[in-house]
Amino acid sequence: MSPELDSCWTLLAFLLSLLGETSGDFPKATNVTWSSLNFKTILMWRPEPTNYSYTVEFSITGKNRDRNPHCIKTTDTECDLTNMLTQLNETYTADVISEPKQGVTSDVVEFPHTRAAPFCPYKNSSIGQPDFNIQVNKDESKITLFIIDPVSAIYKDGRQLNMRDIFKNDLKYKVIYRKAGTTGKREKISDSSVLELDVDKGMSYCFNIQAYIPSRVTGTQLGELSTSQCSPAGDKPFYEEYSIGVISGAILAVLAILITALVLTVVCCRRCRKAADEGKEALPLQNLP
Ligand SMILES: *[C@@H]1O[C@H](CO)[C@@H](O)[C@H](O)[C@H]1NC(C)=O
Ligand SMILES: *[C@@H]1O[C@H](CO)[C@@H](O)[C@H](O)[C@H]1NC(C)=O
Ligand SMILES: *[C@@H]1O[C@H](CO)[C@@H](O)[C@H](O)[C@H]1NC(C)=O
Ligand SMILES: *[C@@H]1O[C@H](CO)[C@@H](O)[C@H](O)[C@H]1NC(C)=O
Repeated sequence: MSPELDSCWTLLAFLLSLLGETSGDFPKATNVTWSSLNFKTILMWRPEPTNYSYTVEFSITGKNRDRNPHCIKTTDTECDLTNMLTQLNETYTADVISEPKQGVTSDVVEFPHTRAAPFCPYKNSSIGQPDFNIQVNKDESKITLFIIDPVSAIYKDGRQLNMRDIFKNDLKYKVIYRKAGTTGKREKISDSSVLELDVDKGMSYCFNIQAYIPSRVTGTQLGELSTSQCSPAGDKPFYEEYSIGVISGAILAVLAILITALVLTVVCCRRCRKAADEGKEALPLQNLP
């Protein structure tokens, strides 16, 4: 290497090191992740800042950058972007920038920053457990499920939107059900929030339900599984409700009572007749003066 080029490199290295010092050596944000449930969307990162702060910038990929006023020079390690990501079907990029603390100025143009994975609310927000009501139809051979679409954190014209408002026909439900006391599971996909199922008359069934978005990438299509709810059992014929043992026990008990009653009656009658006979025999004696 020529001496001139060598000193050139040295100078460059020196300038770079100067730049490094003035940029404050703020640590880059790490573990930048999105957490999003029912369209409530929070960006989270590490580590806790010491002598610096964080600013979050986001944009629809390729468009102008924007900031949430609550996430400028903040010492928090999360930023709620729910009300900022208003175009649910767009993909957003976000950067977490390590900056000087509030009130501290700096000449540095570019601070260390970390970019989050691209995030699209419509594709990436998880869908929470649905609630539902069960109705057993009159003749007990059909059960109707009324699924309550989970509400979202999104408001439009003063009204809180639910999953049906947002996903429209993209929203389906997966219903997993089984006869109570059995393990054989059956599944049904429902396009609507009301589902009628044919069932064995009078039997109790247990249900779990989750949102299902087939337009999403495989592996991210299902929402959280609801808690289990069972339909009440109908009025069964008595011979189905009770076991053979209970029924034969009951028959034996009835027989035993009948036999006891019979025996008691017979014994009683005999005694009565005997007493009556003795009475007749005694009668003449009483007539004696
Ligand atoms: C911030 O603190 C760290 C250690 O806690 C230090 O290495 C760094 O130089 C400090 N930066 C500034 C700009 O004061
Ligand atoms: C950051 O993520 C890595 C793996 O991606 C994990 O090992 C580490 O524990 C995480 N750190 C924190 C503070 O969450
Ligand atoms: C959002 O995009 C999906 C496809 O990714 C499409 O099915 C849906 O209709 C779109 N919704 C809106 C509100 O644009
Ligand atoms: C969002 O979903 C897309 C697939 O639709 C995936 O490639 C991307 O990694 C997801 N982003 C996050 C932050 O999970």
